[in-house]
Amino acid sequence: MGATHAVAMAELGHEVIGIEANPDRLRDLQNGVIPFFEPGLDEALQKVIAAGNITFKPDHDLESLEADIHFLCVGTPQLPGSYAANTGYLRDAVKALAPFLREDAVVAGKSTVPVGTAQELTALLAAEAGFAPHLAWNPEFLREGTALEDSLRPDRIVIGVNDARSEELLRQVYKSITDLGTPFLVIDIPTAELVKVAANSFLATKISFINAMAEVAEVAGADAVQLAEAIGYDERIGNKFLRNGIGFGGGCLPKDIRAFMARAEELGVGKAVEFLADIDAVNLRRRDRVVEIAQRELGSLQGKKVVVLGAAFKPNSDDLRDSPSIAIADLLKKAGASVVVHDPISLANVNKQHPHLTTEQSVELAAKDADALVLATEWQEYRNLDPAAIGSLVKHKLLIEGRNALPVEKWQAAGWRVIALGRNLEAVAQ
Ligand code: UGA
Repeated sequence: MGATHAVAMAELGHEVIGIEANPDRLRDLQNGVIPFFEPGLDEALQKVIAAGNITFKPDHDLESLEADIHFLCVGTPQLPGSYAANTGYLRDAVKALAPFLREDAVVAGKSTVPVGTAQELTALLAAEAGFAPHLAWNPEFLREGTALEDSLRPDRIVIGVNDARSEELLRQVYKSITDLGTPFLVIDIPTAELVKVAANSFLATKISFINAMAEVAEVAGADAVQLAEAIGYDERIGNKFLRNGIGFGGGCLPKDIRAFMARAEELGVGKAVEFLADIDAVNLRRRDRVVEIAQRELGSLQGKKVVVLGAAFKPNSDDLRDSPSIAIADLLKKAGASVVVHDPISLANVNKQHPHLTTEQSVELAAKDADALVLATEWQEYRNLDPAAIGSLVKHKLLIEGRNALPVEKWQAAGWRVIALGRNLEAVAQ
């Protein structure tokens, strides 16, 4: 997220210094290489480097840092063994920055945080720097896969401030975006912190809502895809984030709803967001559902070859954090299947982060003698597959459609038995 924000700021014409603690990532960035897959971002980085708008420095080189505004973009991952978010990287960043912070400079947090974190960081920064700092909270709403576009053309910009200087500088920073008519909301800091977790909780709730409908549809002989379309025409409901399937993953939605529950509990209002535990549970059940379907169709999975198409938590990303695809590959393996994972972009990450999983470089190689294919990440490459050609390679033409993204009729016409999550299974499969 930091790299995207840095490039976006440079694209807006600001002079940007990106601080990166990891030496490999730093070298990549200095050479114009984004150390993760994000469409269009490498080109944009090279452009702003060539224009002289951006440089990158290690985190031990803050002395030479002369900036009007410092954005905090470090991660707040789930703490191991807990639902809470780890805000330690933010505290480290603030401590490192404090000795070199100019009194008139603004520190703007972008990370997703438990409400109250900014207050804690302000106190820490004040103690370390020896003056009352200008600290603001400026949540970001970018999605992986469209990160730069989301940064440059956001739905809205939200800033939480409690001093005029912060508001003034942040208004200047985003002026070229707000001049285009983008809503600019100036609110208090706790609300700004909450806006982000509330937005992600709402999105997670929408997805789990349609997945809960899918659970019902599957046993009632109904179709959750048609149901989503029908309710989505109601503008109050809307048709976005109503795609049922194997559920949400990634570095944001799962950990954000858990961190929200943990924080609400600390604040004594755990009950208010207790429903998020169900949102999480519905989401995780969809992963088990794929294994249940495979077992129902194939009997024991012992020795059966199952191909998982897609490893990333969503297409156009190589991010494997809490990926439902990886979780399903693991569950199928645990159930005895011989699992092969394919992904157009993220196989290097799979081999590095999940070395116990077998991977294959092409769908054709992976599909050879397979007993079932599972569509887990809806990459365009999979939508373009020729079901007849793939059908000639496999042992059983069984497709478990985990994303409702493929042209089912085409697969059926090529002789495949298709079980699509949340759909009227018998009707679809005939
Ligand atoms: C999410 C939010 O959408 C962003 O607004 C937010 O800024 C970001 O988290 C963040 O906190 O930084 P992201 O994690 O990139 O963005 O991905 P999403 O597009 O939200 O997708 C999340 C997961 O939900 C994916 O696994 C996707 O496959 C799944 N999903 C999405 C569904 O299962 N059904 C849907 O209808 C939509």
